[in-house]
Amino acid sequence: MPNVRINELDRHVGQPVTVRGWVATTRFSGKIAFVVLRDGSGYLQTVFSKREVSEATWLRVSALTQEASIAVTGDVRADARAPGGHELTASEVEILGASPEFPISPKEHGSAFLFEHRHLWLRSRRQVAIAKVRNEVVQGIRDFFYDRDFVLVDTPILTGSIGEEAGNLFSTDYFDLGKAYLAQTGQLYVEAAAAALGKVYCFGPTFRAEKSKTRRHLTEFWMVEPEVAWNDSDANMTLQEEFISAVVARVLDRRKEELKELERDTAPLERVVGPFPRISYTDAVAKLQGLGSDITWGKDLGGEDETLLAKEYDRPVFVFNYPKEVKAFYMKENPADPRTVLNNDCLAPEGYGEIIGGSQREDDHDRLHARILAQGLDPEAYRWYLDLRKYGTFVHSGFGLGLERTIAWISGIPHIREAIAFPRQIHRLYP
Ligand code: 4AD
Ligand code: MG
Repeated sequence: MPNVRINELDRHVGQPVTVRGWVATTRFSGKIAFVVLRDGSGYLQTVFSKREVSEATWLRVSALTQEASIAVTGDVRADARAPGGHELTASEVEILGASPEFPISPKEHGSAFLFEHRHLWLRSRRQVAIAKVRNEVVQGIRDFFYDRDFVLVDTPILTGSIGEEAGNLFSTDYFDLGKAYLAQTGQLYVEAAAAALGKVYCFGPTFRAEKSKTRRHLTEFWMVEPEVAWNDSDANMTLQEEFISAVVARVLDRRKEELKELERDTAPLERVVGPFPRISYTDAVAKLQGLGSDITWGKDLGGEDETLLAKEYDRPVFVFNYPKEVKAFYMKENPADPRTVLNNDCLAPEGYGEIIGGSQREDDHDRLHARILAQGLDPEAYRWYLDLRKYGTFVHSGFGLGLERTIAWISGIPHIREAIAFPRQIHRLYP
């Protein structure tokens, strides 16, 4: 008997097969048992009739519990009304692994309990749907850049220089060389690679010892960071626009089932097509003040300001040219207003806040050197980075998109901790 995955059953209609998986639910109606099986590729209702199977088989079916692993043999029946379009008329069941008293029952559980059981919770319909959206977003990202001739460059996780800011670094002892920091960003390294390859990106885990316990922060999150030679800040925003639109369109196209499982209203996602509105930081502050925020010029936008501002638009919005003081050392000073830098954040709609931070990079050696000193960073650690401005400096820009924030937004889930299989937060290291 062939072992078949649930999403391959359409090739076996009318034939006997064996399907292996885990018991999602069982229901008995007189002499009929309905056992819904889950194998990761889909869900399948298997139907046992007491009259058709042996007494031993019926006893095994009667004793099935949630999440037991089983192999069911039977005939595939096409059924348009069944989830997945098939049903299995079962003749035999083998119990591969018992599951006495699975801790997560269909009743409601608190989120603390669920995260304590994250290793088991991953099996739920909702978590399976989120995992598939994540997979689609990741593949959409890789394909987008590959198709546009970007070269993937993997950047180090152990680093000797601070990438973003000193405030939230993880560090570890590194042999005789003092401290190594876990990368907050791969950006500085893709800048070096951009001078070698023109269009590059890195995509990997990044680390921030965030003290903030918000719905938008993890201590370990994934970031994709393209870097492009000769792009200025405007071209950088255009690339972001095309990128986000392409990723959202791909998920809408290929993950309908999962978005439905997540009860995601897809209308706001359908509107995610460029051009996105662009508003300067200065105009954004004025607008926010008009909307009742107490923000003043010079302060960074807080999470609430981002939500308030994004509500004014029906698609993602760019806020550009922030004050130098609230942004990282590597951003290029704005020649038209040196109090500001040539950067942008991209704010997602529906209250999801900043999903991208990007900028044109300071390409002038002396200015960059001065900025490094002004921020109290050690220029010796940035000697290699300054070299890029010494040997063939070039206009270049790039950005970082937070993967989990993007997945949370597209999936419509309230907290980013569900957007990664095993979230790392200030108070969570288990499982
Ligand atoms: O704005 P950030 O700090 O930008 C950088 O790291 C730049 N080096 C990127 C670049 O230009 N190459 O972070 C970029 C994005 C944010 O917009 C957000 O989506 C995400 O990374 N992010 C986080 N996601 C989850 N948890 C956190 N603690 C995050 N911090 C940033
Ligand atoms: Mg940022």
